[in-house]
Formats: sequence, C-alpha cells, structure tokens
Amino acid sequence: MEEQDKLSELRNAICARLGEYRAKHVLSTEEEAAKLAAVYLPEKTEKVRISALLHDITKEYDAKRQLQIFSEFGIIVDNVMLASPKVFHAKTAALLIPREFPEYADPEIVSAVYKHTTGCADMSVMDMLIYLADYIEPTRKFADCQVLRSYFWDGLAKTQTEPEKLLHLYRTMVLSFDLTIKNLMEEQSVIAPDTIAARNAFVLKCKNISEEGK
Ligand SMILES: [Fe+2]
Repeated sequence: MEEQDKLSELRNAICARLGEYRAKHVLSTEEEAAKLAAVYLPEKTEKVRISALLHDITKEYDAKRQLQIFSEFGIIVDNVMLASPKVFHAKTAALLIPREFPEYADPEIVSAVYKHTTGCADMSVMDMLIYLADYIEPTRKFADCQVLRSYFWDGLAKTQTEPEKLLHLYRTMVLSFDLTIKNLMEEQSVIAPDTIAARNAFVLKCKNISEEGK
C-alpha cells in the first residue's frame, strides 16, 4: 500500500474510535506536527504524522479503564501518578499500540506517544515535536496555548541557523513546562516527576548551548 493510503487508512481508523471534538484535535495535531517536522525532522515526517495520529487513542477512556490497562500490563501506579489521572492516557496509549496497531509499534513512535503529556528528561526531537504539536495546534484556544504558539512560531521566524533553531525549540520546551507547572501549582495539584525532570533537562541544555557560544 502507498504511504499516503496507509496514512489515510490510519486516520480513518483513529477518527472512527474518537468523538468529534477529539478527532478534530488529533487531525490538527497531525498537521501541526507535520509543520514542525518540515523544520526539524523532514526525513521522519511520516513517523511524526503517525505518532500524532496515535497520541490520544485512549484519551476518552475513563480513569477506571485506564487503571485496568495498567493492571493488565503489570504496571504499578504510585500515589503521585494516581493523583494525576490526566497523564494516564499517554502511558496507556503507548501500552496499547503494539496490540491494537502492531504495524506502528515502532520504538520512536511509542516513545513520542508515551512522553507527550508529562515530557521526560530524555526526549528525542521527535518526542519534542509531538509534545509541542499537541500543545500548540490551532484548535487549542486557552491562554497558555496561545502564548506558547506565538512564542514558538514568532521566535522561529527570527532564527537562521540549525543550532539557533534547535536552541529555540529547547527554550520553547522550557516555557511549556513552566506554564504547565505554574498551572498545576495554582491548582495545588501534584506535578509528575517526569515534568520536573524534563524542565530541568531543557534548562540545562539551553544553559550549556549559551555558554558554548560565549
Ligand atoms: Fe492530544
């Protein structure tokens, strides 16, 4: 089957299992991710599109069903994670890809899906693109998304070299984690340790690059 036909078959399968609102978000995430891939990872655009299509396959499952999936796969859910059910879906989607979409059970795709909500200290460029596309895709309207979207696209327009573009991506990741952490603190919610580790890792990456340039 042609690449385009396979993508469109996957698109239909994903949309068929999601409600209209979520399906629109997923298709918009796919388009945003493809735009990001054109800048950062053109050779992996197809994989980026596939990851975006698969990233929310369990988003509409309730907490009980998500916990059943963890239990089925022998995953222990600690108290911090239990207190943040919004992050379950990224992990359960990654668990279900090999079973429900075996053709796409590629480690890079599974990793991008797994890390798309909390982030992680060790993120590949593909992981970052899916994380960011999910955050800033155009159907997202809340204030932080608009802040991050403008920060990323306006800032990117001012970059010229590849290292500048990469530093700008890292800085965008720091801002995204700052916005997320601030919100969680205002709600007095728990913060996933992976989110704190991710924030620190990107702050250090930016600092190291800035110091190298001096
Ligand atoms: Fe999403």
